[in-house]
Amino acid sequence: YLCHRLRKTHPDITLEGACEASLACSTCHVIVSEKYFDMLPEPCEEEEDMLDEATCLTSTSRLGCQIK
Ligand code: FES
Repeated sequence: YLCHRLRKTHPDITLEGACEASLACSTCHVIVSEKYFDMLPEPCEEEEDMLDEATCLTSTSRLGCQIK
């Protein structure tokens, strides 16, 4: 949802992750606005583990590649 919305509103933005969504990195870390954060499904345990490795982690951080 987030990626779809971002591409629609900001077509020039490129979201890239080093591991191509295999939950082996945190390079796709995004900070979601509170308005949308609660609309997202809960992250799986593997995503939470990888988020722990992300820099500048916030309470609304997610891995962009896991948001459909
Ligand atoms: Fe590696 Fe998202 S691209 S977890």
